[in-house]
Amino acid sequence: MTAEATSLSEIAARPDFIATGDPGLDAEVDKADGGRKFQLLDYTELYRLWERQQWATQDLDFTQDRVDWHERISPEERYERLYGLSAFFIGEQRVTDELGPIMRAAPTEEMRIFLSTQIADEARHVRFFERFYDEVGVLETDGGALRDRMERVERNLNDEFGELFDVMLKGKVDRLAADPSDQVTLVEAITLYHMVIEGLLALTGQHFIISYNEQQGTLPGFVEGFGNVARDEHRHVAFGARFLTEMAAADPRYREAIQRTLVESLPIAEGVLRPPFAPDDDDEEFELFGVSMAETQAFAAQCLTRRLKVIGLA
Ligand SMILES: [Fe+2]
Ligand SMILES: [Fe+2]
Repeated sequence: MTAEATSLSEIAARPDFIATGDPGLDAEVDKADGGRKFQLLDYTELYRLWERQQWATQDLDFTQDRVDWHERISPEERYERLYGLSAFFIGEQRVTDELGPIMRAAPTEEMRIFLSTQIADEARHVRFFERFYDEVGVLETDGGALRDRMERVERNLNDEFGELFDVMLKGKVDRLAADPSDQVTLVEAITLYHMVIEGLLALTGQHFIISYNEQQGTLPGFVEGFGNVARDEHRHVAFGARFLTEMAAADPRYREAIQRTLVESLPIAEGVLRPPFAPDDDDEEFELFGVSMAETQAFAAQCLTRRLKVIGLA
């Protein structure tokens, strides 16, 4: 299918990614009236796509990944890669646990059925990272030194990660759990969850990490599984774009809720994209996964802008 893809643009052009109807993948949206013309899938079409895009973590083979991680990737590079891997592992666990009240608060049965499939997807993503860490032995090298570094990375993750996942997302979801009829909070939660955490953070990290591994010829089992995770995320983001398009058109209070949530969360999300070891003042030169921080931010901004344009907000 796409194992031979070697660049970011080739990855973004995967037919199974395009099939999700995520506007972030379509350069046509950049044109003057591209946003207005863009056709999003409806909730039932997204559900049917979920049935056709199933995969199993237990089908992945991490044998070569284990060799690559311990013998072909340097200790320094393992440390740099751990930031992204750990952010994903922790992030997948958080979003799995928070989606239930969002599903319950969605106003139609079609939405709730799609969001129920998404809960299953997020659980599978946690299992994917758990299997990768276990079978590759991600934390068992250097006589424990790497484990010490990992703990430092996790401590560094906590500030902005904690703010985004454990304060902002959890706060909105707790409000929804207490009052599922609060549709303004539902719009805020889906803006934060589907547009910012999945659309901006997850898909940006996934594209660059997959592209880098394909260029280096490393971690083939991980690349296959993470490609499946990214396809799931595009489907989730496509749901978010559909939902927010309908809500923004229905009531100016919902438009304001989307804008308010973006304003409060985007600076924190940008901090999450920046690893703790990145210098503050050199976004052009500092590279991770073969691309500069400036390129990473530009990619994230372009995809977000396309989605907001389709929603009717950019
Ligand atoms: Fe996920
Ligand atoms: Fe997701």
